[in-house]
This record gives sequence, C-alpha cells and structure tokens, in this order.
Amino acid sequence: MKKHYIITCLFSVSILLLSSINIYPQKFKNLALTPPMGWNSWNAFACDINEDLIKKTADEMVASGMKDAGYVYIVIDDCWQLDHRDSLGFIIPDLERFPSGIKSIADYIHSKGLKFGIHSCAGSRSCADYPGSRGHEYQDAITYASWGVDYLKYDWCNTEGLNAEGAYTTMRDALYSAGRPVVFSLCEWGNNKPWEWGAKVGHLWRTTGDIINCFDCVVDHGTWKSWGVLPIIDKQDELRKYAGPDHWNDPDMLEVGNGLTLGEDRAHFSMWCMLAAPLIAGNDIRNMSEEIESVLTNRDVIAVDQDSLGVQGFKFISNGEIEVWFKPLVNGDWAMCVLNRSSSTQKFSFDWSREYISDDLSKRKTDFNEITYNLKNLWTGKDAGTTQQLLNSEIPSHDVLMLRLSPVQTDEMK
Ligand code: GLA
Repeated sequence: MKKHYIITCLFSVSILLLSSINIYPQKFKNLALTPPMGWNSWNAFACDINEDLIKKTADEMVASGMKDAGYVYIVIDDCWQLDHRDSLGFIIPDLERFPSGIKSIADYIHSKGLKFGIHSCAGSRSCADYPGSRGHEYQDAITYASWGVDYLKYDWCNTEGLNAEGAYTTMRDALYSAGRPVVFSLCEWGNNKPWEWGAKVGHLWRTTGDIINCFDCVVDHGTWKSWGVLPIIDKQDELRKYAGPDHWNDPDMLEVGNGLTLGEDRAHFSMWCMLAAPLIAGNDIRNMSEEIESVLTNRDVIAVDQDSLGVQGFKFISNGEIEVWFKPLVNGDWAMCVLNRSSSTQKFSFDWSREYISDDLSKRKTDFNEITYNLKNLWTGKDAGTTQQLLNSEIPSHDVLMLRLSPVQTDEMK
C-alpha cells in the first residue's frame, strides 16, 4: 500500500513538472545570438509608408549588397494598421497603403531570402494613434504568425497604469503560444530599466527615447525628448553588463544617411558597432549615395558588431573631446575606436607601451609590452602598423579612428 502511494506521488510530481514546462512559456531562444540587423521604416518615413516602398526597399536590400553584409529584417513601423479593429477584434491593415495585405508583403520579403518584422504597442493605441495590442495580445500574436511575422517591435505609448515587465511578458507568452519564432524587440525607451528584466522577455530592449538625426543635440518636444548620437552614447555607460548573445541593449535605430555629415555617419555607425547594438538602418536605401552604402556595408566594422563573443565595448579614456573605446573580440583581438566629439580636428597620440587594458566583464587583459598586435584601420582598410610604434593621428571633428588589433603570430605560435 505504502509502495503504491509513493509511486502515485512520484507520478503526479513528474506530470506536474512536465506540464509546467508548457505552462510557463519562455522566449524563443537563440534567434539573436548576434545583434539583429535590418531596416525599419520609421526614421526616414514615419507614417508615409506603403506597399511599394516596402517591396522596393526589400529589392534594394539585396541589390545594394546589404543583405550579403548581414542585414536580414525588413520592419514596417507604426501606421500600417487601420485606425480601428474589425468586429471580432482582429487588427486590420490599411488596405489603401497595403492593398495586397500584410501576408503578401511578408511572402515577398521571404522570397528574397529576408525576414519580415512589424510594429505594435503595449498600450491601447500606438504612438501614432493606431490600435495597440493591449487586451488583444494573443489575438494579435496569432494574426502575426498567420502572416509570417519574424520580428516584433513592441512600443510603449498609452500604457498608463501598466507594469512594463508584465505587459512585455504577456506579449512574449502570446508570441510563444502562437508558435512562430519571433525576435521580440522591447521598445520601452528605458523608462522601467528593461535591461534588468529584458533578457528573459525579449531579444533586445531600447535603452533611451527616440534618436534624431543630429550628432550632438537633444530636442525637447514638451512631454518627451529625442536624442542625438552623442547624448545616446552617453546613456549607455553603465549598461554593458546586461548585454550578450540573445539579449542586447538597443540605443535605437540608425540615422546613417538621414542628413548627418559623412564623418558623423561613420562615427555613429562605428560607435553602434562598438556598443554591440542592433544595426537597424533607418534611411531611404532606394536612393542612398555610394558613400552611405559603403558606411552601412563596411564588413570590417560590421564584424566588430557581430563578433560572436557578444561583449559590449567600454570607454577606456575620455578627456571630454576625445574618447577611446575598446571592445574585446574573438581570437584575442580587440576593436579600438577613437571618437572626436569636438567641433575641431584633434591630434591624437597613443603610446601603447604605457597602456594596460583590463576588462573585468570579459576577463580580458592586455599588456602591450608583452603582446604585440597588428593594427588595421577599419575605415581605410589599410594596415596601420603595430602596437610597437607610437600611434599618431589627426581625427576630424565628429569622426572616428577605428582599428582592429590582432595579436602578431610569431613562428612559435603558428
Ligand atoms: C515610438 C518609438 C519609435 C517609433 C514611433 C512610432 O516613438 O520609440 O521608434 O516606433 O513610436 O510611432
């Protein structure tokens, strides 16, 4: 009798354990082992979006070489919906802007070997006042799955009284139960410290309010602010320990090609790569110049962002005008980025023999008197000597010097 009782108990406990695996959904794993790369409609087009734009952007993503450089997601941001749901509560696309419907666009994007993303909001209305997902999370997740959505950017407007972690977890669970793997991008602007809870909920989380296409300004809109490149960089300082494969800090989408100078575009792109940030282009890629294209597709710089160690870079030195950043990379390499924040050209010299780099987070240390590194300039593509010579450079205003350091292979090491 006793034996029978113990077996029954063990059986019940195992059933409970097994079912709990299904009861408590997780986020989809390993969909973003490196920071996601793609394009989003908002920065260049806001609500001025339509089917033709999205399809031509997908065409150009392939033709320009961006796809080959690693860009995968085409994300339609706010304003794709009609301003009300149907009588059963389903979300409906605006058929004037998207006459073939969203599924057909997703199919088109998939046919190009790309992936498709869409935007919604944790509140009842989106920031541009279209229906949000509040109260419709499971219904929307099923709709997205039926359309072939691979990426969801989930915004934070009109969420008064909502608990952020709870609201994002509800949508995560809805996506999970709809069953189609989706990269989940938490667009919560950093208001409720998403870096502290975001890793178990989504794959990336915004760390700041919206970016704007200026290098060093903050624009106050009254109830909210938008941020230029430097102020956004300054807000990332304490956050690197929260990022890693499958869970990234997101300092917002790129403004490359949206009116900054070429040097500023280079600096912005380089620093996003040093920060292991998602690289979501935000310009009109159908009409970009060759110079902009070459910034967005610089493979050496992208390799710094996409490095499989997944360690966000850190500020090593700052004198207010010049900042020196380092990022540990695979195979003992380092990326180094010297950022000129000032409005004039700055002379920069660096005596490797007097510098010692130590990073507690990645447990990497480098004494340049013990190891010599070859240097490659990632924007000219040229060999830049080794760490045995003094580094002397002039860096134009709002621009960078970006190097990759690779240990010199001695004959013994080969
Ligand atoms: C918020 C987001 C932006 C964009 C707009 C759309 O402001 O932070 O990135 O998605 O909403 O309305």
